[in-house]
Order: sequence, then C-alpha cells, then structure tokens
Amino acid sequence: MPDSRSSPDRRILDLPDEQLLRLIGRIARKNGSRSFLVGGPVRDALLGRSGPDIDIAVESSPDRIGRALARRFNGRFVYHRRFLTGTVTLADRSHIDIARTRTETYRRPAALPSVKPAPVEEDLVRRDFTINALALELTHGSYGVVVDPHSGRRDLADRVVRVLHSRSFADDPTRAFRAIRFAIRLGFEIEAETLRLMRQAIRSGILSRLSAERVLYELRLISAEPLVLRMVEALLREKLLHASLDWQPRPRFLPRLQRLVAAGADPELVFIFLMTGLPGFDRVPVTAAERDAALAVRGFGDVRERLRRASRPSTIHRLLRQLPTEALGILSATESDPVVDRIRLYLDRLADVRISVDGRQLRSLGLKPGPKYREILDRILAARLDGKVTTRSQELALARELTAGTGRKSR
Ligand code: CTP
Repeated sequence: MPDSRSSPDRRILDLPDEQLLRLIGRIARKNGSRSFLVGGPVRDALLGRSGPDIDIAVESSPDRIGRALARRFNGRFVYHRRFLTGTVTLADRSHIDIARTRTETYRRPAALPSVKPAPVEEDLVRRDFTINALALELTHGSYGVVVDPHSGRRDLADRVVRVLHSRSFADDPTRAFRAIRFAIRLGFEIEAETLRLMRQAIRSGILSRLSAERVLYELRLISAEPLVLRMVEALLREKLLHASLDWQPRPRFLPRLQRLVAAGADPELVFIFLMTGLPGFDRVPVTAAERDAALAVRGFGDVRERLRRASRPSTIHRLLRQLPTEALGILSATESDPVVDRIRLYLDRLADVRISVDGRQLRSLGLKPGPKYREILDRILAARLDGKVTTRSQELALARELTAGTGRKSR
C-alpha cells in the first residue's frame, strides 16, 4: 500500500493564513491533540486557488481548543456538543470551523449520519470525493504533511471527481449535486465509474428521500457559483431536479436564467429565480421574503400584459409598486422589451418619487381620516408622476380640489 503521508508541500506552505494555521497547531498541541486543515481548503490550496474558508479537524474535543483560540483572538466560540463541532468567530467576522475527527455511519440511505470520534485517517474515509478527502497536518514538527489515503492528489492532477466507495451516493445523495458543482467549478470530469454510480442512484429513486431543505441548501450553494448556468444545465441533463423535487422546468426557464446570470444578478436573486421553477415552492423552507419574491415572479403573467399596454408613468408605478425589490431585480433581467423598459423606468425614476402633501394637510383641509386619505394621496402622487403637478403649491391646490365636497368634517 502506498504511503498516504508525504513531506510538506511547497505550495501549501505558501498558504496566506500560514501564521494562523501554525498557531492553531500549537494551541491544539498544548491541549494534547494533533490538528489538521481538512477538506476543501486543502484541495484548493493544492490547486493554488485558496479561498477564505478554514476547516480544522482535531483529534480531541474541539471545545478547549476552540475556547483557547477565541481567547487568543478576542473572538467568540460556539460549540455544538452533539455534533462535536464548533465555530470560532474572529473580530473581523471571519470563521474557523473546528470539528472532532470522526466516523459517520448511515443507518439508512439518505438519512443524516451518526457520529463517533475517530483518528484523522478514518475521518477522511467518510468524505464525498477523493479530492476532498485530504488533510494537512498543522502540528508543530509535522506542519505541512499531507494526509492522502485515497490518492486525492493524483485525482487533482488528473482533474477528476471520484467517490471513495460504491455506496457513496446511496449514503448521501446530495453528493450528486456536489459532484456536478465541483466538476464544473474546477473544470474537472466526473470519473466514469463515479458517473455510473451517480446515474444509478438517480434512477433508483433514492433522491426523492432527501428533504426539500437539503436539496434547497445545495441549490443555494449552486446559486452562488459563477458557473451556475452550466451547473443547472447539468442538473437538468442528469434529471437530478426531477428525481429530488419532481421538478421539470418550463421551456423558457433556462434562457431566462441565462439572462439573469448574464446581468450579473447576485446569488440571492439567482436562488429565488430557481425556486420559481419548483413545484410547490410556496411550501418549501425558505424565508418569507424569498417566498414572496418568488411568488411575485411566478405571478407576473397577470401584470405583464397590463404593463405592456401601460404608457402613463402613474400606471406603471401602480402596477409595480406592490412587487418586492428582489422580484423587480429578477424581472428586469428575465423579461423582454417593452416590459423591461418599464421596469427599469420604475426602478430608476419612479420608485423614489414622493409628494410633499400628507395626511396632516388633508386633516387641516377638514377631511375626516379614513380610506379616502389613501385615495387622494395616490391621486396626487399619480399627478406628480405624470407631470401634471410639479410643485408643492400645485400639489396642495390639487389636494384642496380633491377634498372639496368629499367627506369633510361637519363643523
Ligand atoms: N463533505 C462530504 N460530504 C458532504 C458534504 C461535505 O464528504 N455531503 C466533506 C468534504 O470533505 C468537504 C468537507 O466535508 O470537503 C466540507 O464541506 P463543504 O464546506 O460543503 O465543502 P468544501 O469542499 O469546503 O466546499 P466549498 O469549496 O464549496 O466550500
């Protein structure tokens, strides 16, 4: 069997956070534990594309080490005893995740795993792909040694995403989403046997056992990727969304997503747009704001025709003012002219128009408080939007005219 450990890797020693990593190694050592950088950050460092994440695994309880680190940096440590994981939040709000090295076993396919402490080599066995089953030792004296029992570095060099064993997708079907995400992000191939296993899992129906929450979590991660469009195309090609959420998008879904991504929409808008394609999305676990925005986009058919015919700014304003900002952001990219022009006109010029008359003036004109107020203020706003009044005194004159004869208080 090849030696899974190897001498320090030059590129890894160039990690931007090397000082911090060495310090973690020292603190863990003082607490009698070996410590490792694990998973994605090791993969990325070996690829020369290190990101901000720091995932640490320690061979003892993370509790004391986490608290010591937090003290050292004036940060905060939150420990989840049940999961043997914790997070140190530093003063600049960056995070260090610390987990006990562990085994995970799946009592049944697609269930959440049960967790037991174990050495790092066993911790790596439970992971999704060989390129993520890597650890870098931080312990003083062994700093920089790569632990690679599953030939992750060879697969990084060959540019393939490969599972560690044939039950991997059955244990955790979200790995099908992850395989696609990593392969497209990194420009890798999904290795042939892994692809066969992934397709077998999809065909077997096991993805339907995933909770909507777990699938949506994967979709959130995908929404934040620069190559989200290619990832969604791959999800559709592999029928992953159909298998997990019974989702078959309408024909115009992909071209719209393409426009949204090309417009530089942020991940939150992309995620909301993805949700609009989901059957029953109004029942899935997302925030109320996300649900409202998705509903507004989905229900836009009713507004679209009226907006197309609208020529007056006040009509455009009335049609669009009920829509959440996120929905308008999505629609301004996914709709076509003249609807887009009108949404942009609303966002750029109309949405912020305010009138100076308010309820107090109407009261001083003798109008009884009630629903009439809203109606009159709306009419003044409409006149302002359409350029029929342009000054405060014209607004007041219009207020007087509209108030005259309508429900004045009897004196
Ligand atoms: N992991 C896994 N199976 C999963 C989720 C995670 O084996 N379903 C393991 C992988 O080793 C992964 C690590 O846990 O590298 C951390 O998970 P996550 O943060 O999701 O992955 P990263 O590889 O860090 O991904 P990213 O680069 O997108 O942050």
